[in-house]
Amino acid sequence: MLAELDSMEQEAISELATVADAAALEAFRVRWLGANGRLRAAMDALKTVPKDQKPAVGKRVNEVKAAIEGVFNARKDAFAAVPKGPLVDVTEPGLPMGEGARHVVAKTIDGIVEVLGRMGFSVADGPELEDEWHNFNALNIPESHPARGPADNFFLGGEVAGKLLLRTQTSTVQIRAMETMKPPLKICAIGRVYRPDAHDATHYSMFHQVEGLYIDRHVSMVDLKTTLVQFAKAFFGPEAEVRLRPSFFPFTEPSAELDMKMKIIRNGKPEWKWIELGGCGMVDPNVFRAVGIDPEEWTGFAFGLGIERVAMRKYGIGDIRLLFENDARFLRQFA
Ligand code: DAH
Repeated sequence: MLAELDSMEQEAISELATVADAAALEAFRVRWLGANGRLRAAMDALKTVPKDQKPAVGKRVNEVKAAIEGVFNARKDAFAAVPKGPLVDVTEPGLPMGEGARHVVAKTIDGIVEVLGRMGFSVADGPELEDEWHNFNALNIPESHPARGPADNFFLGGEVAGKLLLRTQTSTVQIRAMETMKPPLKICAIGRVYRPDAHDATHYSMFHQVEGLYIDRHVSMVDLKTTLVQFAKAFFGPEAEVRLRPSFFPFTEPSAELDMKMKIIRNGKPEWKWIELGGCGMVDPNVFRAVGIDPEEWTGFAFGLGIERVAMRKYGIGDIRLLFENDARFLRQFA
């Protein structure tokens, strides 16, 4: 009888290990622990055991019963822990998680900063909320200049705000850099600028510019053009070219409009085209005077380019609004 109890215990416990669901567990309970179950039968069989063996066999029956019930209860608790409701098949592949990626404008900025960094420009920064001194006066844009009117600028309302505005150009950072650093200096600045333009395919009230400023002794227009040519070749490819057209900006003299020959995607095909990218020139002596740099000793060049323009031409994007609508289906193409 003792040997029989040992094998019963083993059988019951290995059967419990294969029980896969609540229904099978209930069937097990009826078969082993129920009123007509095998444990009951073992207890009944105790009666037929010779008297002298009864205590040992009785003890063993109780042990076997406790062991089986212990494992049974553990399985029962495990099934109870499975949450109710629709069952989840964890072997299903599941829904794809939307994967993030760099925005096409951020990617363009990364590329520009990378190239300028290799050319020796360190990155400078300035606030988007500016005062009139940094956005206009110090840049030789006089009080009477039409570009300073309320129709062309986002001035902050209210008396406390005074004459603060969202900067219209990153040229503000030229002034901030010259106020805090001594020449020679070579910096670039990347940032958002704001203009109250109606939104259409080529205009947006916020966009990004990259500004460059190099100040040293004997800097000339040749240095400016060489820098821009090298930048164009490194950024757009060896076939890229640079063209300067005479222009006017209050903060440079002489000033030029900057065109670059760049590879653009049109109807899915690459093509080389002249694209207007921004302005440049030799730093006006009045700008140097505004920040206390001696224009007799120091010379410099500056340039400012529109980043969206570069991104749109480079990637064949026909509408600037697409860049700021944040439609993942559009942006994913450039990931
Ligand atoms: N700030 C000018 C603009 O937003 C662009 C520009 C022109 C920047 C000439 C410069 C420069 O640094 O030298 O239209």
